[in-house]
Amino acid sequence: MSAAYYTSLDFLEVEREELFRKQWICIGHVGEVPNPGDYFTTELVNEQLLVVRSPGGMVRVLSNVCRHRGNVIARGAGHAARFACGYHAWTYSLDGQLLRAPLIEDNGHFDKRNCHLPQFASETWQGFIFVNLDGTAEPLAPALAATEPYIRNYHPVDRHFLFGAEETWNTNWKCLVENFMEGYHLSPTHASTLHAITPTVLCEKLPNGPGFTGYRSNFSPTCAERGPYHEDLTVQERRSDVFYSVYPSFVVGFCPHFTLYMCLRPLTVDTVGIRWGITGVLRDPESPIVKDYIKLCKAFCEEDRATLESLQKGLKSRYYTPGPLAPDNFEGTIWDLLQYMARRLGGSDRAPAGGSDA
Ligand code: FES
Ligand SMILES: [Fe+2]
Repeated sequence: MSAAYYTSLDFLEVEREELFRKQWICIGHVGEVPNPGDYFTTELVNEQLLVVRSPGGMVRVLSNVCRHRGNVIARGAGHAARFACGYHAWTYSLDGQLLRAPLIEDNGHFDKRNCHLPQFASETWQGFIFVNLDGTAEPLAPALAATEPYIRNYHPVDRHFLFGAEETWNTNWKCLVENFMEGYHLSPTHASTLHAITPTVLCEKLPNGPGFTGYRSNFSPTCAERGPYHEDLTVQERRSDVFYSVYPSFVVGFCPHFTLYMCLRPLTVDTVGIRWGITGVLRDPESPIVKDYIKLCKAFCEEDRATLESLQKGLKSRYYTPGPLAPDNFEGTIWDLLQYMARRLGGSDRAPAGGSDA
C-alpha cells in the first residue's frame, strides 16, 4: 500500500468511524477480571471504558463517564464494591446503576433509575473480551468458527492469565497488525531470538475467512519441544505456533505452552496503544518457565518495536514506492488484511490500488 495508508490523518478518521466504532474490538482477557468486582479501564477512540465482572459473573463493558457532568469515574484496574465518581461523589453499582447522588436524590423530580451508565455490546471469544461501540456489528463467534479446528486442541479458554502490560509504540496500528501476522521478518528481524525456533522458511499460510487470517510457524528441527502443553496437541501442534488476526485489530499466537496476544488501537496516526498479555497451561506467574517466556516475548517485541518505529519514519518519505509482497506462506496474511480493509472501507472486493502481486 502507498505510504498514505499508514500516515494519513484523514484515513485514520475513517478507520476510527468505520472500524473502531462499528466492529468488534478486543480490549482484554477475562483473566484480568477473574472475580466479581474486579475491573480494568481502557480507552477506545475517545470512549472511556470500564470492564467489570458483575456479582452474577458476567463481564460487562460500561461507559466510564459519570452521568452527572461527565467526569471519568474509575481509574486503572483493581477490585471494587461500587464505583464513586471523584468529582461530586455520584456512586454506581458494579452493573452501572446509579446508587447515590448526594443532595439531589431526595428531590422528588430526580429518578436514579434514569441514570444508568451506558453498557456497550460485548462478546467473549476464546477468553478474549471484545466490544462493539455502536452495537451494530454482526455476532462475532460465527465469523470466527472456521478457526476452531486449528486452535481447539490448545484449549485457550482453560489457559491461565499470567501477564499483562500496556505500551505505546510509535507506529501506525496497521504496521503492528501486519508485523505480528507475517513470518517473512522472523529470521532477519529476530535473528538471535526467534530464528532458531521458528525460521521464516518454515512458515505456512492457514486458510483465512471473512473475519480473520492466520499462519503457522513451524519449529526448526533443531528446536526442542516447548512445554508443558495440553495432551490433546497433535505432533504438528507440539512443534509449531499458530497466529491469528481477528480483524481489524486483535492479534494472537497460540504456542504449545503459552498464548501471546495484543489488543491494538490507534492513539494517533503514528502511535498505537497496546494491551498485551500472556496466558498459559501453567498457573503460577512466578514459575521460571513463565518468567523465561515473558523475557523472550519482551526481547522479540523490543526488536519489532525498533523495526516498526523505523518503518514509520521511512513511510513519511515522499519518494517511497511500495514493492510486492512475498509469497503466500510469508506475507499472504497481509494480502488478506488488505482485502478486509478494501471490503470494509473501499466498498467492494476490488484489490486496493497499488496492492501486491502475491
Ligand atoms: S461529574 Fe461525577 S459526580 Fe459530578
Ligand atoms: Fe516480530
